[in-house]
Amino acid sequence: MATVKLSAPASQWVGGRKSLGRGPSVRPSFRRVSVPVVRAGSYTHELVQTAKSIASPGHGILAIDESNATCGKRLASIGLDNTEANRQAYRQLLLTTRGLGEYISGAILFEETLYQSTTDGKKFVDCLHEEKIVPGIKVDKGLVPLPGSNNESWCQGLDGLASRCAEYYKQGARFAKWRTVVSIPSGPSALAIKEAAWGLARYAAIAQDNGLVPIVEPEILLDGDHPIERTLEVAEDVWAEVFYYLAQNNVVFEGILLKPSMVTPGAEHKDKASPETIAKFTLKLLHRRVPPAVPGIMFLSGGQSEVEATLNLNAMNQGPNPWHVSFSYARALQNTVLKTWQGLPENVEAAQKALLVRAKANSLAQLGCYSGEDENEEAKKGMFEKGYTY
Ligand code: 13P
Repeated sequence: MATVKLSAPASQWVGGRKSLGRGPSVRPSFRRVSVPVVRAGSYTHELVQTAKSIASPGHGILAIDESNATCGKRLASIGLDNTEANRQAYRQLLLTTRGLGEYISGAILFEETLYQSTTDGKKFVDCLHEEKIVPGIKVDKGLVPLPGSNNESWCQGLDGLASRCAEYYKQGARFAKWRTVVSIPSGPSALAIKEAAWGLARYAAIAQDNGLVPIVEPEILLDGDHPIERTLEVAEDVWAEVFYYLAQNNVVFEGILLKPSMVTPGAEHKDKASPETIAKFTLKLLHRRVPPAVPGIMFLSGGQSEVEATLNLNAMNQGPNPWHVSFSYARALQNTVLKTWQGLPENVEAAQKALLVRAKANSLAQLGCYSGEDENEEAKKGMFEKGYTY
């Protein structure tokens, strides 16, 4: 940040603020209003355009940025080994789906996929460009225990982040994702919230400085038996702190995207909430905490079933919102696809059709026009897993 040069002697400034000295003797001899000037970064215009193009009507994000370990779990669920070739085959199936760009505007990739090609040698990034889908990249380095907290965690990855982002930009990425988590049953402690918010803000500033639109994702885990009111309370605390630190780090709000959890009761709560209730609580949170300068809210699915995640999104789009309210689902876009594929080449076409079905359903939900009819049983199965790691 550049600041206008101060004309008063440094002794008249205390901790960056003008001294409140009394009487003429401590006043500067002449006055000039001193305002901090935030220099627009070289990428500002591009960041705003990128964020806008991702947050475009009827579009959302396909999240396929599972780390190798998590992708291995997905593959294991259909009896496949966690090899580079199998990960490539799965990502190829997803990223070469013709017509995906009609519903999907961005795809979050894991580093391996950003640098990978199809088995015919076409870069995955180019497959996305053909569908006018913006390539994105997961840049956090995962969660580790947070010492001094109530068995909570913090997210690593700030060291070397600027140079990694610059390399990812060269490789074609235009947006980034950093996911940290907050656990309600573990408190959450003030320390864990502060750490999550500060880490997200530093990451967002660094990503923007290197041309990547940061997706800001403090996931409030579904774990717990608390009611929906408690989730709202925690979410308000978390987002208040996130925006406080985003502002302190001079992050351009028009050039970010958010990835919140929907406000729901804890997964082990005795009652389930309807899509209308979830929409009411979630929109209340957003209206109270998110400035309208932010172009897009791209929800995570967090263990909801495919159909639940779509119904909830649809309920949130029954009236006008100041932001684009959409999806950035991983589990809620991939579950039926995986089950359909089963690792067999002869099932690839059917699996791609299954992806289009989910992408279209969520596109309709973004427009508030999803009916929920004709959904199969697989798509209604919940995917909540206690203590899920990504
Ligand atoms: P889910 O939709 O599976 O919760 O994905 C979370 C995520 O962060 C993916 O990028």
